[in-house]
Amino acid sequence: MARPSILVTGGLGFIGSHTAVCLHEAGYEPILLDNLSNSNRSALDGISSLMGYTPTFIEGDVCDPDLLRRLFEEHNIEATIHFAAFKAVGESIAEPLKYYQNNMGGLMSLLEVMKETGKNKVVFSSSCTVYGEPDQVPVTESSPTKEAESPYGATKQMGERVLRDMQWAEVQCLRYFNPIGAHPSAAIGELPLGVPNNLIPYLTQTVAGIRQELTVFGGDYDTPDGTCIRDYIHVMDLAEAHVVSLKRLLENQAQERFEVFNIGTGDGYSVLDVINTFEKVNGLPVPHRIGERRDGDVIQVWADTSRVNSVLGWKTQRGLEDMLRDAWRWQQRIASQ
Ligand code: NAD
Ligand code: UFG
Repeated sequence: MARPSILVTGGLGFIGSHTAVCLHEAGYEPILLDNLSNSNRSALDGISSLMGYTPTFIEGDVCDPDLLRRLFEEHNIEATIHFAAFKAVGESIAEPLKYYQNNMGGLMSLLEVMKETGKNKVVFSSSCTVYGEPDQVPVTESSPTKEAESPYGATKQMGERVLRDMQWAEVQCLRYFNPIGAHPSAAIGELPLGVPNNLIPYLTQTVAGIRQELTVFGGDYDTPDGTCIRDYIHVMDLAEAHVVSLKRLLENQAQERFEVFNIGTGDGYSVLDVINTFEKVNGLPVPHRIGERRDGDVIQVWADTSRVNSVLGWKTQRGLEDMLRDAWRWQQRIASQ
């Protein structure tokens, strides 16, 4: 029997590339669409080496409905996992139009074609950013969402709203916490272009000697060690969550047309916890200093995962040590190229 074809928008990106491999392993045929605005064609080599063949890759823009029409028809797309979006919070404040055009425009053209073709199942990349600074941690899926701090965050809230309004669509809305790490083989990982904004690529580049020192953004927060707390999740666990969620859609197991899940570990770690754990598992010092707070940072957020654990039957398999070991292995691999 032919493998069901799944359109993966943003398929050469960090989360998309790992998900493509997991889809293949689970018996699906990923059809990868990416315009390479924040990724590199070399990711396809890594994906291909893990899959044992080169999957279909189309270099193109998800904002182009004609292209999507052609893809849905030629590849008999059964469902879509929609990763393609811009994701840099700071850049979104400087260039909001770019974010609204790409993140909302991409979703709109995808929905247009899904509606036309009747292929109405989609897994959507949302974010814990929709919770803003929570009043209580851990956050559940029914914790209040707060006014978005950035245009990026606004595109995730609006994306959820738009999808909720599409009465004809079957939607799994996954709110990711902080994905880090890489495939354990180091064949694929995160390839930030330019100076990284996120903690882990900055940290690994510092240890590799590419950056001088990691600045810890704020050491005087009201947390046990004064630094911010996040729910870091291994990108392989996150990728596997997409497969479980997709299966639920394809097998018509969803209880509601629009379902939301927190995708995290349920554990919060501070920035200093991350540094200390990295040093312990990799046996290398992380040059760092405590600096100023970063504007817009949430103090602490981590997931209540009871809903995803019980309803999807999914939970994370990997801990912070695995994440930081794999992140370092990946950094070493890209540094050696
Ligand atoms: P990424 O930038 O590595 O991957 C996104 C991919 O989409 C890139 O390869 C980029 O080239 C592509 N893309 C962007 N716009 C496109 C367009 N118009 N047409 C075709 N391709 C396009 O990011 P990621 O970390 O893999 O994130 C994937 C999704 O998950 C995004 O929607 C992001 O907002 C969301 N998310 C990410 C995080 C995180 O911390 N990484 C957290 C929460 C949510
Ligand atoms: N941090 C530092 N130094 C750095 C970079 C980050 O101390 O050089 C700290 C931050 O202050 C924060 C923590 O490390 O406390 C994590 O920061 P990241 O930038 O890695 O991640 P964020 O939690 O700020 O945001 C990420 C994504 C967003 C997404 C959000 C929730 O960048 O796109 O997770 O999913 F919306």
